[in-house]
Amino acid sequence: MGSTRPHEEELRSYARGMRIGVLTGGGDCPGLNAVIRAIVRTGETRHGDEFLGFLDSWDGVMDQRYVRLDVPSVRGLLPRGGTVIGTRRGSPYDRPDGVEKVRQCFAEQSLDALVVIGGNGSLTVTTKLIHDTGLPMIGVPKTIDNDVMGTDVTFGFHTAVQIATDAIDRLHTTAESHDRVMVVEVMGRDTGWIATYAGIAGGATVILIPELPFDIATVCDVVSTRHRRGRYASIVVVAEGATPVPGTMDMPEYRTDHIGRPRFGGVSADIAREIETRTGFEARVVQIGHVQRGGTPTAYDRILSTRFGVAAVEAIHRGEFASMVALRSSKVVTVPLTEVDGRARTLDLDLYRDVASVFFG
Ligand code: F6P
Repeated sequence: MGSTRPHEEELRSYARGMRIGVLTGGGDCPGLNAVIRAIVRTGETRHGDEFLGFLDSWDGVMDQRYVRLDVPSVRGLLPRGGTVIGTRRGSPYDRPDGVEKVRQCFAEQSLDALVVIGGNGSLTVTTKLIHDTGLPMIGVPKTIDNDVMGTDVTFGFHTAVQIATDAIDRLHTTAESHDRVMVVEVMGRDTGWIATYAGIAGGATVILIPELPFDIATVCDVVSTRHRRGRYASIVVVAEGATPVPGTMDMPEYRTDHIGRPRFGGVSADIAREIETRTGFEARVVQIGHVQRGGTPTAYDRILSTRFGVAAVEAIHRGEFASMVALRSSKVVTVPLTEVDGRARTLDLDLYRDVASVFFG
């Protein structure tokens, strides 16, 4: 007679120490090292797990390039920006033998699980790999853009908002001294989370986001009205992926990166030029760029990363594969990885319309 608990053997294996791989994928963000530290500390001290940190994302899995991660090796990582195991964009599907190489790595390294710390791209690839191979993987959402479906927030976002806010605070005084318009470009290829949060926190004159095409004539009206009222200087915050209403303004031609995505950066220059031409006020451009992704995470992001890392290991030991750890109403939970679904989680437009826009002008 068969066992009444078909997964008994499997469940027993989760009760002993496991051999777990970890990779970081996509663009880096503050908090990646804090997650790695939390995973290793939790797994080794609570469960007797051992860890392989695959180098340079999926490349390290396919080529079986890794470092052993243990408690001494993750000391000091909590406040450190970037990722000590490296990251890349791209996936096993970019190589003809990529998926087979991943399977081979699991078998040859006797992996019980793989933790993928990634954004939309990496997590969608993970879902597809699980579907195609059935391998035991779990996701941890990261990105400064805060655009991963299934979680209320990703770590890295608060740090990016703080950096952008600090920059805007500084720009106010120099803009006022010269009676200038400062056009501040922040990251956010599909979504205006950073622009809106930093814009509200920094007291922006107007905020332009990818979710709502902007009318440059309206932007210029807001700036002119403000200056007519005697409020000298304006701060226009724009997300890199913002676009004008079609036909109203020329846009930069973006080059593409090695995976075919537009390499954003430059919309602020076109906006500044239009503002100068149309209003007569001097405008300057500030692209905050990768400064937003570099350096130490804020306390909030250190804590969220730590909670995610602990939760990921516990989910593995419960056998909850094909899931992602997530923050939902301030609780860390697991959700099906399929919720990520390749789509960007766009800005809550109520925040933009009901709160941010009250302060425009
Ligand atoms: O991580 C997402 C992101 O920050 C986007 O907002 C931005 O367009 C992109 O990374 C740029 O990354 P990279 O220069 O590393 O390709």
